[in-house]
Amino acid sequence: MAIVAPSILSADFGRLHDDVVDVVSKGAEWVHVDVMDGRFVPNITIGPVVTKAVKAAAGDAVVDVHLMIVEPDKYLGDFRDAGADVLTVHAEACPHLHRTVQHIKSLGAMAGVALNPHTPESVLDYVLDELDMVLVMSVNPGFGGQSLIEGVFPKIERIKANIVKRGLKTLIEVDGGVKTHNAHRFTSAGADVLVSGSGVYKAADRAAAIAALKAS
Ligand code: DX5
Ligand code: ZN
Repeated sequence: MAIVAPSILSADFGRLHDDVVDVVSKGAEWVHVDVMDGRFVPNITIGPVVTKAVKAAAGDAVVDVHLMIVEPDKYLGDFRDAGADVLTVHAEACPHLHRTVQHIKSLGAMAGVALNPHTPESVLDYVLDELDMVLVMSVNPGFGGQSLIEGVFPKIERIKANIVKRGLKTLIEVDGGVKTHNAHRFTSAGADVLVSGSGVYKAADRAAAIAALKAS
């Protein structure tokens, strides 16, 4: 059983509250919030104010904040105050990654580190033991609705093997191009959490899509 985290990037922002309530009522245990700054990625989305509104709508669901921003340390406290349960930063945006991870943990949130498709998993060698989650990007971050990059599967397998070898409980989350028809490939490789934006929000039957992803 996978944890399903619909990405609100593909929701209707004019009725965001209802779109969050909808996926949670249909079985999503996590809600994924994509924060983009127009610097780390070529797109701008939302900040703590909207994250707070998502938290209010999410009820007991985990609010999973994916920070695609430079200098994330400046904003970690604001997102935690807004209700983030998981705070994930990009390794590529953090010259002092170990310190940033400790900062997240000091705020009482789960600490995640995301890797772009080209980033080798070896950047985690000296920080993996500190992490609650590794987010493996299966597309280049910035936009919803892209196709997955095949190289992600052996990468997930290698990270999973490392987690098992070290006896850790670190979750692996995958993000980008995850759909009901390919979700089993991610879970077979070792993914625990499936982010899906268009795969849930654009589905004709969202409850069926969430159930199928969960069962993957
Ligand atoms: C991409 C974001 C993803 C995105 C996934 O930069 O991090 O969370 O919303 O969208 P889909 O599932 O449509 O590929
Ligand atoms: Zn994301």
